[in-house]
Amino acid sequence: MYRTHNCGALRLDDVGESVILSGWVQRIRDKGFVLWIDLRDRYGITQLVVDKARTADGLLKQVRALGREYVIQVRGEVVERVSKNERLLSGEIEVLVRELHVLNPALTPPFTLEDETDGGEELRMKHRYLDIRRNCIKNNLLLRAQAAQAARSYLTSRDFVEIETPYLIRSTPEGARDFVVPSRVSSGEFYALPQSPQMHKQLLMVAGMDRYFQFVRCFRDEDLRADRQPEFTQIDCEMSFGHRADLLAVFEGLTRHLLREVAGVSVGAFPRMTYDEAIEKYGSDKPDIRFGMAFGELNDLAQGKGFQVFDSQELVVGIAVPGAAAHSRKQIDALTRWVRRPQIGAQGLVWVKCDKGRDFKSSVTQFFSPETLHKWAERLRAKPGDLLLVLSGEAAATRRQLGALRLELGKRLDLRKPGVFAPLWVTDFPLLEWDAQEKCYQAVHHPFTAPVETDMPRLDSEPQKVRANAYDLVLNGNEIGSGSIRISDPALQARIFELLGFSQAAAKAQFGFLLNAFAYGAPPHGGIAFGFDRLVALLGGGESIRDFIAFPKNNAGRDLVIDAPAEIDAAQLDELHLKTSE
Ligand code: AMO
Repeated sequence: MYRTHNCGALRLDDVGESVILSGWVQRIRDKGFVLWIDLRDRYGITQLVVDKARTADGLLKQVRALGREYVIQVRGEVVERVSKNERLLSGEIEVLVRELHVLNPALTPPFTLEDETDGGEELRMKHRYLDIRRNCIKNNLLLRAQAAQAARSYLTSRDFVEIETPYLIRSTPEGARDFVVPSRVSSGEFYALPQSPQMHKQLLMVAGMDRYFQFVRCFRDEDLRADRQPEFTQIDCEMSFGHRADLLAVFEGLTRHLLREVAGVSVGAFPRMTYDEAIEKYGSDKPDIRFGMAFGELNDLAQGKGFQVFDSQELVVGIAVPGAAAHSRKQIDALTRWVRRPQIGAQGLVWVKCDKGRDFKSSVTQFFSPETLHKWAERLRAKPGDLLLVLSGEAAATRRQLGALRLELGKRLDLRKPGVFAPLWVTDFPLLEWDAQEKCYQAVHHPFTAPVETDMPRLDSEPQKVRANAYDLVLNGNEIGSGSIRISDPALQARIFELLGFSQAAAKAQFGFLLNAFAYGAPPHGGIAFGFDRLVALLGGGESIRDFIAFPKNNAGRDLVIDAPAEIDAAQLDELHLKTSE
């Protein structure tokens, strides 16, 4: 028997018990006459003790020869500690060692395996199996498993069936590049790894499975960021015979269930906001609504007063920064420099300090009367002590810039609290966007998304104004889920393919199987996919999804543990018809 207990199990009640423990040596403290070992496994740490008075010389020597991360097994007796450690659940006891076996020695790890480590990210990723021994990463993986369990139980109890769909498929239109797999048997042909199981889940609805879900790996060859991985996991869901309201109720319920079960927070009904409203109020289709600072448009109050910077612009728009009137000139100059950085791209920043009296200090007092500045303050719902910040320019770009400034200020003023969860639905995205390069429309979500019913007549006259029956689930400024009601009418689907620039032949070649399936009776259906890595990272209060994935890829898309991607040998290339032999 390797162990009678794990390293997190023993308590005062066990004093006097004879036990066997196995685990890794976290730390050894040698006081000469007494030595302590922290023995660690997934469940916790138990302190082991040997001392001159109670332990044979040979055993003391054996302990002194141990190194960090050695895998050992000990037999001993649970005793009460003299000085207790309240931070450890097992901190009231220790195990007096009678016998010790080294199960495996270990090299000294290249970084310290403590909560606070000295290892840089690349080094830790290369030795991920060591990094996972650290509590923070280990706990993230445990949280992930707990969230998966909770989601499965919620969906299963509502009649969703877990069904696997294939990984070796053909290209799916989710907008990123595909990872492809060459076929050995069919020379010159390739599988594509799914960017999502979109088409297969729709086929399952045609097949009458009614409610489907899957924890599924998706593969997208796109530029990486903190919240993007080339392979990531979705909780992919689809259901038949439901209107949008029915779907949102189920998936809001799932999110609420996860927030409660995993993060221990209860949230009320999720607010809903249209895409247009989100852009106008927050300059983003994934607003962080943990804090206010909603935009106010000032064109009518700021143009035509002789300030040329504003007069020539499409949009003048501002925010009131709570309590920031006390900002020094230096701080405001720093903000101005921040918005002028190429990543943000604003020309400049107009500011107004709202004092209690009427003489507002401002960078533009020579152009605007105190009455006008008061009206600005009213429009932006400012309070005395707030700082108004105003940008102007082309509407879409200016909103984006102010959105970025709002988030930055939210961070600097500590308004984006990690323990606070503010979910919302963003609905009614545009269905199509014009791609000037390709000279055709692109689907904003994907080509299977249904238009909003009442916008249907516009499909022919002004397609860019048609709204999609699509919705995103946003949590604290992150898109954690995205879905839509699907097109189930083959004629409408054919029309959308046409708008997306597919010839009939091309649409048939790429999506013929779906159109054929629809011809056999498609139920009205819709669904959503949650970005599971993002969701778990947020539930765990993390910054990067990498910390919540057991073996993530680095920024260059490399797996540093196994060093992939890697070259393959000539014979393999040959077999796959990728290179002919000499
Ligand atoms: P979408 O492409 O919006 O929709 O993806 C759904 C959710 O998946 C997450 N996500 C990612 N997470 C980590 N790394 C990535 N590279 C990455 N890309 C996307 C996001 C996103 O909201 N088939 C549709 C869903 C549907 O219509 O049902 C789809 O895949 O959180």
